[in-house]
Amino acid sequence: LSKLYPIKDMVGQNVLVTAGPTVSPIDPVRFISNNSSGKMGYAIAEEARDRGANVVLISGPTSLKPPVGVEVISVKTNGEMYNEVLSRYDSQDIVIKAAAVADYKVEEYSTRKIKKSSSDLQLKFVRDNDILKTLGDKKQHQILVGFAAESNDIIENAIGKIERKNLDYIVANDITAKDTGFESNYNKVIIIDKTGKQISLDKMSKRKVAKNLFDEIKRR
Ligand code: CTP
Ligand code: CA
Repeated sequence: LSKLYPIKDMVGQNVLVTAGPTVSPIDPVRFISNNSSGKMGYAIAEEARDRGANVVLISGPTSLKPPVGVEVISVKTNGEMYNEVLSRYDSQDIVIKAAAVADYKVEEYSTRKIKKSSSDLQLKFVRDNDILKTLGDKKQHQILVGFAAESNDIIENAIGKIERKNLDYIVANDITAKDTGFESNYNKVIIIDKTGKQISLDKMSKRKVAKNLFDEIKRR
């Protein structure tokens, strides 16, 4: 019943969600990107919408249908996502960064296609924006939630990110866990708050993870 008639406990709240990967173009035909289906971020956007929030979803390239009733803004690069997120930040109540943002971009984009030659190709990658850290540094009234996909030392790494990026919550997941994470409709996560309190959720649908996350934010 609660699925058919979700409690509208977020009416009037402005929620910004990022989802999917970003891409870093190398030349007109090549890019590097991150592994992300976008499913977790889209599920969060849909959950917030169904609870009555005004939702903006800033999405890198995914194969998912844009959710009805959500303002969807499509971006490709880290820089585009940075601009779209930052320009809307002041008016948000909750910002959830589920996107897999590229940490590096090529030092110099080649406007001409790089032709194959008999030698190896060397590219230099330079650091790109840490969008979430910028949001943390500029944080005023917003509740800021990050994601951390880790292969080892999950809790330590995730807590480090809470501190470095001035977050209220981080959702940590173990990318080595079976049948969860990338591409899957399921996820197994630990929600950690800035006091270090941990909530370990069982493996569940990404939509249920989203529900648990908002329930937890509401409880505080
Ligand atoms: N993030 C971001 N901008 C980046 C990198 C990450 O906004 N350039 C955000 C992600 O959307 C996520 C959180 O920061 O919510 C953690 O991302 P992650 O890649 O796990 O952390 P990094 O700080 O990039 O550290 P590392 O990749 O070295 O683990
Ligand atoms: Ca990263």
